[in-house]
Amino acid sequence: SKEYDNCIVGAGLSGSVIAENYATKLGQTSLIIEKRNHIGGNCYDYTDTETGIRVSLFGAHLFHTRHERVWEYVQRFSEWVPYEHQVLGIVNGKHVPIPVTIDTVNTLFDEKIASTEEMDEWLKKEQVTFYDEDGEEREAENSEEVALMRVGQRLYDLMFKPYTFKQWAKYPAELGPEVLSRIPVRNNHDGRYFSDPHQALPKDGYTAIFDKMLSSPKITVVTNTDYFEVRDKLKCKRLYYTGPVDSYFADLGWAKLEYRSLSFERVVKDNTPGYFQQASVVNHPQATDVDGKEVDFTRIVEYKHLLNQTSDKTIYFIERSKDGGEPYYPVPNDENKNLYKRYQEMAEKEEGVTFVGRLANYKYFNMDDAILNALELFDKDTKDIKTATG
Ligand code: FAD
Ligand code: NA
Repeated sequence: SKEYDNCIVGAGLSGSVIAENYATKLGQTSLIIEKRNHIGGNCYDYTDTETGIRVSLFGAHLFHTRHERVWEYVQRFSEWVPYEHQVLGIVNGKHVPIPVTIDTVNTLFDEKIASTEEMDEWLKKEQVTFYDEDGEEREAENSEEVALMRVGQRLYDLMFKPYTFKQWAKYPAELGPEVLSRIPVRNNHDGRYFSDPHQALPKDGYTAIFDKMLSSPKITVVTNTDYFEVRDKLKCKRLYYTGPVDSYFADLGWAKLEYRSLSFERVVKDNTPGYFQQASVVNHPQATDVDGKEVDFTRIVEYKHLLNQTSDKTIYFIERSKDGGEPYYPVPNDENKNLYKRYQEMAEKEEGVTFVGRLANYKYFNMDDAILNALELFDKDTKDIKTATG
């Protein structure tokens, strides 16, 4: 078969950015092998034929970044429509902003907090402090303590404890502090979900970005193909691997790295020129609703809200967390961290191979992190080539 400069496993963001850079900056050829029947990895979106609404196959994707380099880079592949994401939660039957803001607290606890100072005071009264044997303040040892230190018992019990259980099938007390360490709490009315300076959606969706990134004649994409079934036939000078690191080293017979996954239940509503719910994403943190009915899902995503799409129908997806299925979120515990370290050592020793992306690094990357990481790895791997050619 033909020889390529680079073979790339995976047509997600990581693999596509690498291929695009080799083609555009160095004129090098890449063969991308993708096991799914589409490009785009987990960013893949498409137009639902029944409703005409563009939806994402692997959950809502909101672009946000503080990296100027990434923001500049993505301009090349799409027009971007400014969009500041807002999430609502239904708690005790009431809609409240998520993250927690002054309005969240006022609504849930019938408070009349009117200023940042009053919100800080309210939080201070709620927040729990932990002490060691010597009476010294100590750091949180698990995610329950982290949450109690940040938001106090009441918000913890109402929102963070049951939501975390739905997401991880473990209570925060059983999870390391890092899981809830970044709970955003605002001492103002800023209900935006992200605070990055650049927040936007691609005008024609994410898949269109990948079409453009991969359009160079220097890039060949083969879908429906598992790398491990064709690896012996490939001729490439260098390999970029964006699949799961434990699959790459399956021959070692080590344990698999654990992931949490999601299921998406698709619902179409006819005769709905408006919306099913008040926001694109509505979280359902509690285990039961106000009528005592079990709520076994974490959130509902209604894509029509994004980019103000119109249709006489609407479509939404009910999300539930589960074990097994597509690998989405690395499970943060010491066992997995230590196991990953062993895989990482093997990966570092592997000659001629660069491990890129969220699966190869067993790490949750936002899209902008994935792009930045790929750009930086490209720079690193091609430093000498660029010096040689000036
Ligand atoms: P992937 O997109 O997973 O691509 C890897 C590709 O490799 C896949 O297509 C896979 O099929 C392929 N592959 C694996 N093994 C093989 C093999 N053996 N042979 C051939 N191909 C193989 N980020 C944001 O910034 N904002 C968001 O709102 C956001 N929402 C998200 C919601 C969910 C539910 C999830 C799971 C992620 C979200 N992300 C979001 C993160 C975003 O999806 C990732 O940053 C991005 O997909 C990472 O790209 P990647 O190329 O590293 O991995
Ligand atoms: Na191409």
